[in-house]
Amino acid sequence: MPIQENLWALLQETAKQYPLKALKTAAENLILRYRTAERTGEALVLDETDAAAYAASRMPATFAACNAVFRELKNRAPEMQFDALLDVGAGTGAATLAALEHFPFKTVTCLERARAMAKIGERLTANASENAPDIHWISADFTRLPENTPRADVVVAAYAMNELSDTARAPVLKRLFDLSNKVLVLVESGTPSQHCLLRAAAEELVRLGGFVFAPCPAVRDCPLPADDWCHFTVRVQRSRLHRLLKGGDAPFEDEKFSYLLVSKEPIEPVSGRVLRHPTVNPGRIDLKLCTKEGILLKTCTRSQKAAFKAARKLGAGDGIQLEN
Ligand SMILES: C[S@@+](CC[C@H](N)C(=O)[O-])C[C@H]1O[C@@H](n2cnc3c(N)ncnc32)[C@H](O)[C@@H]1O
Repeated sequence: MPIQENLWALLQETAKQYPLKALKTAAENLILRYRTAERTGEALVLDETDAAAYAASRMPATFAACNAVFRELKNRAPEMQFDALLDVGAGTGAATLAALEHFPFKTVTCLERARAMAKIGERLTANASENAPDIHWISADFTRLPENTPRADVVVAAYAMNELSDTARAPVLKRLFDLSNKVLVLVESGTPSQHCLLRAAAEELVRLGGFVFAPCPAVRDCPLPADDWCHFTVRVQRSRLHRLLKGGDAPFEDEKFSYLLVSKEPIEPVSGRVLRHPTVNPGRIDLKLCTKEGILLKTCTRSQKAAFKAARKLGAGDGIQLEN
């Protein structure tokens, strides 16, 4: 069974262990804290109910965003073999489970300092996948990574770097890049501030010798205007529990996210990245693309048979190879 289906069932089971009212209050408080708290490195998940509320209300979306990012890693580097994964700020295991949807890692280490999050994460990662390897959970602070932290082919920090203070972030970034043998994956919410965080990280990682191969066609001289920010969207189906916790009747929500894929060896980035959902009119599709040459508006008409057919399959966030 795909990890996602198992995961949804396990999240329901986890939530059942807590009174719904307490979970709802905790979910509301968590959202507020994540939106407004000054980032000082202080914990934002405070207890077991918070952790269960995070798993039930946020994890479906963080899993979906990480799933899209690991799918892009697979698309961009189909030949690469990855044996070991290190997930820092692993929380309840969303990034690990998303990574396992796409790659058969042989060893997985999840590093998390909040015991309540790790407790749920341990259970979810042990049960969500039939073929998962043993997953080793380490209780540690990633601003003070233990000397014996294992290196890994892929290191991922999902929705975690933004919790650090500005001063703590740069040394952690360097350490995570050092620990990654092949690829470092960063995922954050798709907000202007987290776009800035990832822009700064991209520049620093290039300075450290890394190759940013997604989403940017060219990491230097980002062509986005100052009032725009690079983000993508995944649609997440909402369960009844999800709707009860977060309110509203919509059967889905759209999770906006930003990300970076950075390698140690060069990997060719795409030459164009679709920035907005294509505008489709009869016989004509308009694409807004980020390219090495800047932001480009490209129109495909029905008479351009192959290009039109390909454009019909494109969505925001997809990479394309532009003809010279
Ligand atoms: C928003 S959650 C994200 C969890 C998971 N990666 C996901 O995508 O759903 C951030 C996690 O990072 C953890 N975290 C934040 N700062 C940390 C630190 N300095 N050391 C270890 N874990 C940390 C928090 O405890 C929390 O579980």
